[in-house]
Amino acid sequence: MIVAFLNQKGGVGKTTLALNLAGEWAGKGKRVTLVDADPQGSALDWSQQRAREGVPRRFGVVGLARDTLHREAPELARDADHVVIDGPPRVAGLMRSALLAADLVLIPVQPSPFDGWASAEMLALVAEARIYRPELVARFVLNRCGARTVIARETAETLADHDPPVLTSTIGQRVAFAAAAQSGRLVCELDDADLATREIAALATAIERLGVGRIAS
Ligand SMILES: Nc1ncnc2c1ncn2[C@@H]1O[C@H](COP(=O)(O)OP(=O)(O)OP(=O)(O)O)[C@@H](O)[C@H]1O
Ligand SMILES: [Mg+2]
Repeated sequence: MIVAFLNQKGGVGKTTLALNLAGEWAGKGKRVTLVDADPQGSALDWSQQRAREGVPRRFGVVGLARDTLHREAPELARDADHVVIDGPPRVAGLMRSALLAADLVLIPVQPSPFDGWASAEMLALVAEARIYRPELVARFVLNRCGARTVIARETAETLADHDPPVLTSTIGQRVAFAAAAQSGRLVCELDDADLATREIAALATAIERLGVGRIAS
């Protein structure tokens, strides 16, 4: 399966969720490749930081921030059970290419009612990609849900009928995500990050249950 984390809005958790999801699958013995499609190269930076800290590699990270991504992705997918794309911010060409490459697009959003969710432009790009790829599946992922989880739940319920729908599994606002990223690690590699680790495992399960693409068993 090729899953892409996309949102033109910055800082919503694309890189965080992409890295931790890739790590979760790799930890279960899947062959995983993470594609850094962001010219800023945050996922590549993370993997270099990881190497500096002497933490063993779990999955490969390749930089492919170009709009030929959709033509190169199938080859990457041949050698992996899962390809996870960490998407670019605000670059329509790169975004289009990532959407054409993906079986599943996940749009991280913060569950604030004032947050504006994904831009109309982002949703228009998803709609456009579906003209060529009707089988493309898209879901919002609620990230950084606060202690006021009731709000998050209400938001999820409000959006359940929306297109794209909201993934049932949500991710909380947890310092572990930032702490792990800074040290080239995943939340499952930290002490005291059980909640974050469980949320990522639940996210992986929710994604697998969507039954998208060629899911390796
Ligand atoms: N669930 C979370 N809890 C706490 N901090 C989080 C969470 N998700 C992301 N963050 C933090 O928020 C910041 C932005 O996250 P991240 O870099 O993953 O977003 P992004 O969408 O990839 O941003 P960009 O558009 O710049 O690539 C980072 O410092 C990250 O550690
Ligand atoms: Mg990023």
